[in-house]
Order: sequence, then C-alpha cells, then structure tokens
Amino acid sequence: MDRSSNEIWINADNYDDWETSRPLLFRDDMRDAFFKWFRIKSSDNVLDGGCATGVLTRFIARGLDIGTVTGFDISRHFVEYGNNKIKEEGLSTKAKIVLEDGFNLSFADNIFDVVVNHAYLGVLSDNVAGLKEMIRVCKQGGNVSASVSARHFPEINWEGECPFRGNERLNELIEKQEKVYSEITTASVLKQDTYWNVMRFPKMFAMCGLTNITIHPYASGFSYNDSYWSDDFKKYMIMSGIGREIEILEQQRQNPLYAENGFYDDDFKELIELYKCKQNHLINNIHNNENWAWNANMHYIVTGTKG
Ligand SMILES: C[S@@+](CC[C@H](N)C(=O)[O-])C[C@H]1O[C@@H](n2cnc3c(N)ncnc32)[C@H](O)[C@@H]1O
Repeated sequence: MDRSSNEIWINADNYDDWETSRPLLFRDDMRDAFFKWFRIKSSDNVLDGGCATGVLTRFIARGLDIGTVTGFDISRHFVEYGNNKIKEEGLSTKAKIVLEDGFNLSFADNIFDVVVNHAYLGVLSDNVAGLKEMIRVCKQGGNVSASVSARHFPEINWEGECPFRGNERLNELIEKQEKVYSEITTASVLKQDTYWNVMRFPKMFAMCGLTNITIHPYASGFSYNDSYWSDDFKKYMIMSGIGREIEILEQQRQNPLYAENGFYDDDFKELIELYKCKQNHLINNIHNNENWAWNANMHYIVTGTKG
C-alpha cells in the first residue's frame, strides 16, 4: 500500500483554509438535504474521515439527537484545534475528533451506521485502501459517502457592478497566478492517486462492493453582502480568508518556479497590495448593499450501502 500522502498531511495546521471555505458548503439551512444525501438519521453513530478542523463533523453534530459523530484526522494539530471548536460550540456530548491514520484505523469492524468524508479520499496516495478501511468500520446495511469538489466543474465568478478600485486588475492577476499554480502543483507533487480521480469515485464505490449507489450534485456560493451570513462570519472571511490568501502568496513568492513560469515578484507584490486594498474596502462596506460580486462552486456526494 502506498502511504506517501501521509507525509504531506501529518503536520498540517492550516486551520483557516477549512474554517473559511467549508461553512459555505455545509450550511445550516441545507442540513436536511445533506442528511438525506449522506443517509444520516438523527440517532446514528457517524464517522467523518480526514475531518481536519471538523467543520463537517460539527455540522453533522448539530443535526443529531441521540446520535454521535466521530471525526478522525492524521494531523494532531487539527485534532486539538477541532476538539477545542467542539467544546466552544457546546457539542462535546455529541462530537469528538480523534487522531487516526485512515490507512489503518484502530476502530473494530462494523461499528458505525454511516461513514462520510469531504475532500479526504481524493488526497490519499491509495484511494481504494482508504475507502476499504471506511467500509470495514461501517455496519452491514450502513452507508458510506464521499463528498467531493472537482476542478472538472466550472467555478462561477461574477465580479459585480460595484467593485473596489483595482478589482479588475486583481482578478486578472489571480487568473494568471492560478494558471501557473496549476502548472506547478501536480497530483504527483501532492502524492495523490491519479488513477481514481474524484469523478471516478462512483465507479470506485461499486468496485469496492457498495450497492444502491447515488450521486447528488450540489453547489456552494458566497457574496460579502449576502444577508445569510452573520457580520462576524463576513469579518472572519475578510480578515482570515483574504489574510490566508496573502499568507499563501507570500510563501509562493519564495518559490522560483513561479518566475520560471511567468509569474514574477512584481506580480506577487501587486497582487498582495490589491488583496489588502480589497480587505480595507470590504471591511468598510459590510452593509453598503453594493458589493454584488459573488462566486460559486460545484461539488457532489456519492453514497453506497454496505452489503
Ligand atoms: C483536503 S483536507 C479536507 C479536510 C476536511 N475534510 C474538510 O473538507 O474540511 C484532507 C484532510 O485529510 C487528512 N488526511 C490525509 N491523509 C490522512 C490519513 N492517512 N489519515 C487521516 N487523515 C488524513 C488531512 O490531514 C486533511 O485534514
């Protein structure tokens, strides 16, 4: 079994990446639909694989009554951070996160009613081995799901009529930078299994013996003036979300492969400055009802029954 992807994740501590992006997918007003697609009942004992800080784990916990949810991850930083969030949100009786290697789970066979994950199986160097472990710990007649986001799906970006000054240039640079990023960040650098790319997961589920397989596509979206989101969350997205983009750009700026592929130090400098201008603009205009730029992404959930 190829476990090389573990070395990428074992010390991961990029908390904000998950805390900003995942609440856009797992929205509280969509819980009934997600429970239906994952086939979760409120009394079930659920396992959430590769849960990182546990955004999905907590989302599930909030919908359970006598049921419980256990998240697992290979990074001890995520486990500690995630358990603190569970405590902060008053979910300790229903949820916990444990340190586990998904290639070799310490759980007994056939103990969980439902096993789910988002964007976990796809990062593994051996997708089938990871899936088989999740199936092993699921009860006979229980359900196993994977929720995935794929680059194969188009992202929808609407820049809006009232952007801050510099928005057009910002978007031009983002597009250029992302093109270079995808050229130099390949699945082999990330040690991902390339045979079972995420669009083939339904077939992988069938091959691993799951039956009654369903596919449910869904979308996520965000706009800074959307009244669905609380002011606190918007501020967090502006400061930590955009702040994280800036942090990543500062790290990438040190990588000579960007300049070799046409994205130069001056481009990084300008892009970072523009992100900072955008942060200022947004923080000063949270309630102006004019920032109608928004973006959306597509994802899907595949679910199958064991036995
Ligand atoms: C792309 S992140 C997705 C995190 C989370 N499910 C979410 O969507 O917010 C992949 C996660 O899988 C975890 N992971 C990778 N390999 C693992 C392994 N062998 N066992 C357990 N967790 C693993 C990583 O630490 C990381 O938290």
